[in-house]
Amino acid sequence: MSGRFFVLEGLDGAGTTTQAARLAAHLREHGREVIETHEPTDGPVGRLIRQALRGEEGAVDRQTLPWMFAADRADHLTRLVEPTLARDADVISDRYLHSSLAYQSLDRPLDLVYSLNADFRVPDLTIFVRVPVDVCLARIEARGGVREIFEKREQLAAILEQYLLVLDRLEARGDSIAYVNGDAPVDEVEAAIRAAVAGA
Ligand code: TYD
Repeated sequence: MSGRFFVLEGLDGAGTTTQAARLAAHLREHGREVIETHEPTDGPVGRLIRQALRGEEGAVDRQTLPWMFAADRADHLTRLVEPTLARDADVISDRYLHSSLAYQSLDRPLDLVYSLNADFRVPDLTIFVRVPVDVCLARIEARGGVREIFEKREQLAAILEQYLLVLDRLEARGDSIAYVNGDAPVDEVEAAIRAAVAGA
């Protein structure tokens, strides 16, 4: 028996973190053991990535991020995801390789990003929480704190386009992808995600 691997994806401000926690609570109510996790991770490579995302001096350049995210993902799978699934617990990851395909293809050719991520486990279901760029920006604004390097209008618009393109391609390859309208009350988004998981 193996657990199920769920991934939540969306632009910054799409609400994936809130929804990951709600989906985990729902599955636990149904008796499942669930591990909630996220990328970038809190591991050694993830910490280097965070420095770059904050635009810190001395951090790796964003051109190097495709390799960093791939290394962080390999570490994440080895250390946490695979062992958890192997003992029949479910994993919910807030972001995974789809983020790399959508975000890193701003700086490097998409084919390169694909090849770096080609061998990683395919999720049982990927849920894309779709929210208009302006709504994401308003939420990022309201949240306050340090703006990360991708949190700008033109970039988010380009990332959304890339997301839709790569998700389409992955779906054509046979991946399970659900699209959920994230520009709705939190409870409604949660219900839509539950429905997608029930049908998966
Ligand atoms: P996020 O979880 O949204 O950060 P926070 O918890 O600070 O809101 O992810 C951080 C950023 O990293 C986000 O802008 C998306 C980006 N990212 C990539 O560019 N590539 C990737 O492969 C991943 C996993 C994230």
